Amino acid sequence: MLGVLGVGAIATAMITGLSEGDNPPDILVSPRSVARATKLAACYPNVRIAASNQAVLEQSDVVLLCLRPSDALKVIPDLQFRDQRVISVMAGMPLGMLRELVAPVQHIARAIPLASVAIRRGVTPLYPAADFARELFNRLGRVIEVADETAFDLFSASTATVAAHFLYLNRISAWLAAHGIAQREAQQYVGAMFAEIASSLHGSELDFAMLMREHATPGGINELFCRVVGEEGVWEAVDKGLDRVQQRLVP
Ligand SMILES: NC(=O)c1ccc[n+]([C@@H]2O[C@H](COP(=O)([O-])OP(=O)(O)OC[C@H]3O[C@@H](n4cnc5c(N)ncnc54)[C@H](OP(=O)(O)O)[C@@H]3O)[C@@H](O)[C@H]2O)c1
Repeated sequence: MLGVLGVGAIATAMITGLSEGDNPPDILVSPRSVARATKLAACYPNVRIAASNQAVLEQSDVVLLCLRPSDALKVIPDLQFRDQRVISVMAGMPLGMLRELVAPVQHIARAIPLASVAIRRGVTPLYPAADFARELFNRLGRVIEVADETAFDLFSASTATVAAHFLYLNRISAWLAAHGIAQREAQQYVGAMFAEIASSLHGSELDFAMLMREHATPGGINELFCRVVGEEGVWEAVDKGLDRVQQRLVP
C-alpha cells in the first residue's frame, strides 16, 4: 500500500499518473483535503481515503510526504512511524531533518517530481535512488539518479524558475497590450507561441544552445532581442537568482 500525506497539487498529479498507468498500486490518502481526496477516490478504484494521518501510516509500506514543509513540521511530530519506506517531495527539507522527523524510519528518499508526472512524462531527480522510490517514479516517466544531496538541491533550485517563466510571458503580452493589442489576443498569441516551442522540449537529447541558434537567424530579430536583453544583464541576473535560491535551500 502506498500512503500519501497531504493531497495537494503535486500529490494529485502523482496519484493521477499512477492510477491511470499500468497495474495501479493501492493508494491510501490523508483525509484533510476533502474535495481533492474525494474526487480521486471517486475516479480511481485503487484510491481510498484514510480516517486519519496515523491510519495512513499504519496501513502503508511506502509513505509519500507531500505536505508543505511548514505543515510537516507541525503535523509529523505527532505521528508514529515504524519501519515504512518514506519518500519526501518536500522542497528544502534535507535528509538529516527528515531522519529526525520520521524516526525510526531507516529508508528515506527525496524526489523532485514535476507536474508532468500526471501524464507519466515526468523526469524526477531522486536521492538516494532507493529501489522503492525508483520503482514508483519509473511508473511516472523517467528518473534521474542524483549522486549526492548537494546535486539534488541544485535540481531543486532550478524549479524556482517556473513562476519567472510565466512572468516573462506576461511581460511580453503586457507589452503588446500597452501598444494597443487587445489583452486577450495578446495572451492567446504569446501562449500559442510558447506552447508550440514547449512541446519540442520532451526527450533526452536536448541541446538548448543549438535550439537557441536555430531560432536566432544571424542579423534577425531574435538575435537582436537576445543581444539587447543580454547587454542589460538579464542572463547574469538569472544566475544570481539561482545562486540565492541555492543559498536558501542549503544555508
Ligand atoms: N506543486 C509542485 O509542482 C511541487 C513539485 C515538487 C515538490 N513539491 C513539494 O510538495 C509539497 C506540497 O506542494 P503542493 O504544491 O502540492 O502544495 P499544496 O497544493 O498546498 O498541498 C499541500 C496539501 O497538504 C494538505 N495539508 C495541510 N496540512 C495537512 C495535515 N495536517 N494533514 C494532511 N494534509 C495536510 C493541504 O491541505 P490544505 O490546503 O487544506 O491546507 C494541501 O492539500 C511541498 O513541500 C512542495 O515543496 C511541489
